[in-house]
Amino acid sequence: MISQAIIDRILDTANIESVVSEYVTLRRAGANLKGLCPFHDDKTPSFMVSPAKGICKCFACGEGGNAVQFIMKIEQVGYVEALKLLGKKYGIEVEEKELTPEQRQSQNEREAMFAVNEWASKYYNELMQNDIDGRTLGLNYFRSRGFRDDIIAKFRLGYSLDKWDALYKEAISKGYKEEFLVKTGLCFKRENGQVTDKYRGRVMFPWFNVSGKIVAFGGRVLDSRTKGVSQKYINSSESIIYSKGRELYGLYQAKKQINKEDRVFMVEGYTDVLSMHQCGIENVVANSGTALSEAQIRLLHRFTNNITLLYDGDEAGIHAALRGTDMLLAEGMNVKILLLPDGDDPDSFARKHNATEFKEYVEQHQTDFIIFKTNLLLQDAGRDPLKKAKLTQDIVYSISVIPEEIIRASYIHECSELLGIEEAVLLRQTQKDRAAAFERIKKEQEQEKLRAQYLDRREKEQQGVTTPQGASATEASNNGETTPRVTPNGGTQTEVSAPASGGFSSPEEEEAFYALHGDDFPPPPHEEQQPILIETKKSKEDARLIGIEQMIMRLIVRYGEQNVTKQDEEGNDFSIPLARFVYEDLSADNITFRSELYADMLIDCVNHLGDDNFNASRFFRNNPKLDYSNEAVELLSERYQLSKGQVMQPEEELAPDYITHMLFDYKFAIIEDLLRQYQTQLADPTITRDPVRSNEILTQYMQLSDTQRRIAKLLGERVFIR
Ligand code: CTP
Ligand code: MN
Repeated sequence: MISQAIIDRILDTANIESVVSEYVTLRRAGANLKGLCPFHDDKTPSFMVSPAKGICKCFACGEGGNAVQFIMKIEQVGYVEALKLLGKKYGIEVEEKELTPEQRQSQNEREAMFAVNEWASKYYNELMQNDIDGRTLGLNYFRSRGFRDDIIAKFRLGYSLDKWDALYKEAISKGYKEEFLVKTGLCFKRENGQVTDKYRGRVMFPWFNVSGKIVAFGGRVLDSRTKGVSQKYINSSESIIYSKGRELYGLYQAKKQINKEDRVFMVEGYTDVLSMHQCGIENVVANSGTALSEAQIRLLHRFTNNITLLYDGDEAGIHAALRGTDMLLAEGMNVKILLLPDGDDPDSFARKHNATEFKEYVEQHQTDFIIFKTNLLLQDAGRDPLKKAKLTQDIVYSISVIPEEIIRASYIHECSELLGIEEAVLLRQTQKDRAAAFERIKKEQEQEKLRAQYLDRREKEQQGVTTPQGASATEASNNGETTPRVTPNGGTQTEVSAPASGGFSSPEEEEAFYALHGDDFPPPPHEEQQPILIETKKSKEDARLIGIEQMIMRLIVRYGEQNVTKQDEEGNDFSIPLARFVYEDLSADNITFRSELYADMLIDCVNHLGDDNFNASRFFRNNPKLDYSNEAVELLSERYQLSKGQVMQPEEELAPDYITHMLFDYKFAIIEDLLRQYQTQLADPTITRDPVRSNEILTQYMQLSDTQRRIAKLLGERVFIR
């Protein structure tokens, strides 16, 4: 919502040299500057800053970007936040303009809710430090569990008084509006209009979002003898600033360390996070008892590729470790599992050990997820061949969701040895599974969403906020807190129960509920899936084509707006911007880039050619679409020069024949690819048996190879001329 004009102004003012030099000591190296990379443990300066191009890049670890991306990475903030930081530094007012009235309203609403939460957190904390009950009950509770004051302060823990409306009254007297007290979920309104505090007599855990704003609270009852008596934790319900499936408890306090160690530990609960910090391990977040959602995984993925899931070593923990992990793999994360000694959770374990011991334990016991699963299931199956076949499917399924082919291949290799099954067999099965996998993951995500909605509605019903099914009757008798809350990951203190009849609003929701709480790891859907065409060969061809596309895009990003001189049919010279020329030339042959990103970038560039002072490098480098700007940084950096001795000058790259030559190259490669496909088809028995069809293909094949010869000749001549 920040206008492009302001973004451009910030990026034009915030020269990369001065931005980076706040964090890195730079010294000249020719036209560039050099320093130790702040993103990895750099021994020799590999971090290059190019003031001319406005970018920085580490040639060892690959991190870098334009000024905004640099700030995003080093400060671990989002795009808008980074722009604001830069704006502040350079005195550029960042007003988020052009909000529609509704947007402004919701913007204001969000701000108001953050303000209420911020105040409430201080209020709870203040009570715990100074109120008699707060000190004797709240503070003592944390102290009796062994939490130090610095941890209490770091997580801004607090205490809510055991009164009906203590917070409400205080807030109103301070001028906060009832509307926002209700919208944040700090209070709720009963049917009779009376407003009540949600949290009473509980210790309070504020939830920070990734940029440090308080979006929600969790409140824990004080005594630990709570099983079956009352709900141990209650949490804010979903609101426009909080969605349980999008936040991770502790991320704000952990993000710097996650980045630094390039690993995150995933635990279940609030107190696990606290205890680990206290013992000196800070790269830890909690999913607070639910399965990880796609949004949470993406959020973590911004900071690291490596995740270690911590579980109890008991049955439930092992079971939980197997659930939902495929989604992490599918997002391209490297997943490890760490089982703690039986009976310990991260909280109790961290209290018994110091950081060194903890880390040592981690080093010795964390296991790659796939290997963990293979060994575990292998133990389970024993000598039973049927069981073994099923577990093989199961493991192959997990492998099949991994996006990178190379990683899949190395797992197949390893598992083939563990399982004693030929690699080729495993490979074939993975390929078959890949199409099915994505369907299943999508379904899992949808189910997770439905479940979150369901939980939220249920919670609201319990509070009597909306009471479609007479839920307020329970509410009146027991403060609405005795109904067990559904905790899918094991349900420590309450049993999982399906809602009473009518509790589901649709069959899908009901199905989703049972799918998630059906007691077993759902078997992967093999049988009903059609095997898909095996794509490995094609992807190799694609890689080659995309390689050429990359060379073309490199020119577009650098010189897209510059005119190249061409000749029309009559042999007259005319000028045309490079980007348009490429676009028109390819369109004429009905070709679009195989890389979707490049295809989008090209069209976008052509559409902006008419902008005032359009400059392709700047357009891409400063583009709010991060995949554009990331790619632009790659393409603008010198890494893709042919070789050190052969640095191309802009004049050479803009020479009229250069791009034409490259486009010929590209088309030549496409034709080769097509020819290969025809050849395969012609060898296919179902086609050889069909004379009409095979004749058709043969004709096309001949025509194409004719075209190929012509192009080869042209290419040859040009190569010769150059
Ligand atoms: N949780 C929740 N609502 C509940 C129960 C649990 O949101 N009614 C979430 C909390 O985030 C909790 C996590 O699930 O931290 C794990 O639950 P549990 O292991 O029962 O709690 P602990 O964190 O171990 O809490 P404590 O040590 O204080 O008992
Ligand atoms: Mn615990």
